[in-house]
Amino acid sequence: MPKVDDDSVRKAAASAADVAYSIPSISEQEKTQLKQRIREQLKAKNAVLIAHYYVDADIQELAEETGGYVSDSLDMANFGNQHSASTLVVAGVRFMGETAKILNPEKRIIMPDLDAECSLDMNCPIDEFSAFCDAHPDYTVVVYANTSAAVKARADWMVTSGIAVEVITHLVERGEKIIWAPDRHLGSYIQKLSGADILLWQGSCIVHDEFHAQELAKLKLQHPEAAVLVHPESPAAVVELADVVSSTTGLIKAAAKMDNPSFIVATDNGIFYKMKQAAPNKTFIEAPSVGVGATCQSCAHCPWMAMNNLRNLAEVLESGANEIHIDPAIQAKAIKPIEKLLDFAAQRRK
Ligand code: 13P
Ligand code: SF4
Repeated sequence: MPKVDDDSVRKAAASAADVAYSIPSISEQEKTQLKQRIREQLKAKNAVLIAHYYVDADIQELAEETGGYVSDSLDMANFGNQHSASTLVVAGVRFMGETAKILNPEKRIIMPDLDAECSLDMNCPIDEFSAFCDAHPDYTVVVYANTSAAVKARADWMVTSGIAVEVITHLVERGEKIIWAPDRHLGSYIQKLSGADILLWQGSCIVHDEFHAQELAKLKLQHPEAAVLVHPESPAAVVELADVVSSTTGLIKAAAKMDNPSFIVATDNGIFYKMKQAAPNKTFIEAPSVGVGATCQSCAHCPWMAMNNLRNLAEVLESGANEIHIDPAIQAKAIKPIEKLLDFAAQRRK
């Protein structure tokens, strides 16, 4: 199986963290001014703000307040696709902006920082991936949303964590064998639930990969009343300790629905803003990361998501910079596996 270059990804994550955390903190007065500038610009530019659950709580709040949207990667794509605004401002990481552009080539897509990467996307360079697919022509190629436009263009299906198991189960029922990329943990999880014949690419998310099963087991003992909520990008030993394994939206719904007074959460801690909104009287505890207090790199927060802030959001709206462009030939191919997913999801929700 192709070897992923973890070292360069870790270096990129460290430099993203340097950028994100070197930004001087924003005073309450400046925050109010920035929010007002953003509200005005959204109106003036016929733009809508679409944010992922992992970005800064102020950005999530502003998206909701201005008629935009806060969600997981699947529903961000759906919302942008159906909204009438001519500009979509995507606060998240680059593959989310690219997915919006692939689905809406006629719209202007801008992002606060185009260097907001994703380790999974970086783990899956198109040339190596394409050669791998070419070597296994009898396999159906299913890729996670967290990939580049070029990788999507090489795929038969694109899926998100919210619907991956359903899609793969459907393909298994049709007798298909699967190439899955790039997240090895999500891939193993899907393989276990669907029984699929899967060739797994060896990528991982630098945030979820660091959740630590032994420390989580200790924390569970300290909080016997808490349910454990885990995103399936986490290692198998962490998933095994979960009461609920689901996409970001699924985890928020579980927190609202379950009777437990508290939850230990193994996903990016940006999700706590929405979880607290959905379940205001409950307590949320971060699952422990590898090397807590020592060498942990991401500490349960994605350094690339952290590159989105109110300042660069206001600036990009005013300047119109940081627009996403996709080669039309790649766009024409990449839209097919995404539309397949959106059609599949629409059928299942009927
Ligand atoms: P969701 O599709 O569940 O929003 O996950 C996206 C992501 O990047 C998780 O790390
Ligand atoms: Fe990518 Fe992980 Fe960040 Fe999600 S949390 S965007 S999977 S690096």
